[in-house]
Amino acid sequence: MAVAGELALIALSALWLMLPAYLSNMLPVIVGGGPPIDMGKKWRDGKRMLGDGKTWRGLLLAPLLAVLLTWPLQWVALHTRWGLEWGFPAWGDQWFVLAYAMGLGALTGDAMESFVKRRTGRDRGEKWFPWDQLDFIIGALLFGFLTRPATFFALFTPERLLVIVLLTPALHLLVNLIGYKLGLKKEPW
Ligand code: CTP
Ligand code: MG
Repeated sequence: MAVAGELALIALSALWLMLPAYLSNMLPVIVGGGPPIDMGKKWRDGKRMLGDGKTWRGLLLAPLLAVLLTWPLQWVALHTRWGLEWGFPAWGDQWFVLAYAMGLGALTGDAMESFVKRRTGRDRGEKWFPWDQLDFIIGALLFGFLTRPATFFALFTPERLLVIVLLTPALHLLVNLIGYKLGLKKEPW
């Protein structure tokens, strides 16, 4: 039982670390819309470059809001028993830089996935497992690593990365199902 509890804490603290990316990836459903990033332009194949699901508002606003929401989380990690006793990590001295990089990376990864989806004939909103679930974590981790490498390696240990890659797809599907039931999302995935 004690071992199970320890393992659960390790898993939860790994997912906790990804919250700037998770928040940034969820927020465009609420704050997105308006002019699309590709400005309606088509690629050589006659299909949209990215499609109407990737907007400037989502790309620019969501990472900033994710940083704002990471602020209280950073405080919780530094000042409450969540961090002090249970080991939920903070994002380092320059937490806002890392949080912003992860948030922007998440949406950049998501937009790049849309580019590949359009090139492979998948329409906006069409399901593409597991890339819909993994695009944003690849982008978030890459941007985080490039921006604050030392902090990144101290925080994202191999076991935490394993937890993140294995559990994010299930979490993503669950959150999207909730968003769909709430009427925020058009598709349940
Ligand atoms: N969104 C946005 N701007 C972004 C990313 C997302 O406005 N940069 C909004 C869009 O309303 C989008 C929704 O968030 O429909 C959900 O994002 P996602 O599931 O990634 O987009 P899809 O509509 O499924 O499009 P795609 O097939 O291109 O992934
Ligand atoms: Mg996507």
